[in-house]
Amino acid sequence: MSNLEKASRLVNEENNYYARSSRINYYDLVIDHAHDATLVDVDGNHYIDLLASASAINVGHTNARVVKAISDQAQKLIHYTPAYFHHVPGIELAKRLAEIAPGNSPKMVSFGNSGSDANDAIIKFSRAYTGRQYIVSYMGSYHGSTYGSQTLSGTSLNMTRKIGPMLPSVVHVPYPDLYRRYSGESEHDVAMRYFDAFKAPFESFLPADETACVLIEPIQGDGGIVKAPEEYMQLVYKFCHDNGILFAVDEVNQGLGRTGKMWGIQQYQNIEPDLMSVGKSLASGMPLSAVIGKKEVMQSLDAPAHLFTTSGNPVCSAASLATLDVIRDDHLAEKSAKDGAYAKQRFLDMQKKHPLIGDVRMWGLNGGIELVKDRDTKEPANDAATKVIYYAFDHGVVIITLAGNILRFQPPLVIPRKQLDQALQVLDDAFTAVENGSVSLPKDTGKIGW
Ligand SMILES: Cc1ncc(COP(=O)(O)O)c(C=O)c1O
Repeated sequence: MSNLEKASRLVNEENNYYARSSRINYYDLVIDHAHDATLVDVDGNHYIDLLASASAINVGHTNARVVKAISDQAQKLIHYTPAYFHHVPGIELAKRLAEIAPGNSPKMVSFGNSGSDANDAIIKFSRAYTGRQYIVSYMGSYHGSTYGSQTLSGTSLNMTRKIGPMLPSVVHVPYPDLYRRYSGESEHDVAMRYFDAFKAPFESFLPADETACVLIEPIQGDGGIVKAPEEYMQLVYKFCHDNGILFAVDEVNQGLGRTGKMWGIQQYQNIEPDLMSVGKSLASGMPLSAVIGKKEVMQSLDAPAHLFTTSGNPVCSAASLATLDVIRDDHLAEKSAKDGAYAKQRFLDMQKKHPLIGDVRMWGLNGGIELVKDRDTKEPANDAATKVIYYAFDHGVVIITLAGNILRFQPPLVIPRKQLDQALQVLDDAFTAVENGSVSLPKDTGKIGW
């Protein structure tokens, strides 16, 4: 059982100064240090990390090669702005990202500091290239916290409440949900129903010839680890091509080995995005993002249309090059696929004995475990999910919820099998304890989760 004496004191103090807009409340985890998939808090408690800093630490905490790259680079040059001049890590990284992006067309890169600004870049470049204004994105998506990316998102009322007007000319369509399909519907039926919903705006108020791009998460991350059917994705991709609309993907959460492939979009057959955004694990949590796009699209804007003083920082770029080396040399995408399949089977076994588990979705070490009050009605079991994560935290496992009732399973990809087994056992015990009614939440936690 965790002792949180120092952590709770620090959190209480911080609450006087830290704006509540800027943290989603779960529990009092004050991290002191971390390595691979282990976190240690300020009270000395050890935890197995099943969140990887929101999929930003795919190669594991304080990975030795990343740490060395950061410290070596920090001693040479901490920063000089790429807005005017050049540095070697940035030069190498731009080339590398252009080369490893999916598809064979020549690519170019523009750096930023966050996944959010990379998605803003998608708005800018797609509008510039096509000369069109409208952008289509998805309900349930999370694209970030700048005005542009927040407008693109569709996952929380707090992201629009009190701060509108949002960016004009952004239209949201529903993202396919195979779990809550109508009775008797096949996957094909679901794909077609959602493709009809996708086309509906184009038939009623959204001129396709004024639409610049469709931006989609290959697998919705914060929406609950939800993957669109292959057929749906191919239909949307074709619709875009047929209508001169750019097809853009957000790889910020799902890229870099997370899904068991290097890029999330490689979960689908032969799709080459015109534009893609990357961030988070790109530099192992150091602030770095990139938009990568087809050369002709990326050449549609002139400076200073998209630059930042600290974008493509040399230390972050060095961290990124080392991160990409680790993903490649340690075969982390393959490990993610293999361990993800193993973890999925373990959750499916748990589902047989725990009625709480409604759905198990998993691609790589990347899962959404959806908890429901009743498997027939699929009514979300938010309280139970909160109890599960509190029980887990109390027993040394860090995991959070998405959409209130979905467990977000995204450990660092380097997690050893032994720790994975330990964490899965704790979750199994948590389901039992919650189903038995033996878990209670601390008082005065406030609103928990999204
Ligand atoms: C899919 C996706 N896109 C964009 C972002 C925004 O990235 P950042 O928080 O680095 O701005 C996130 C962050 O959670 C994300 O999950």
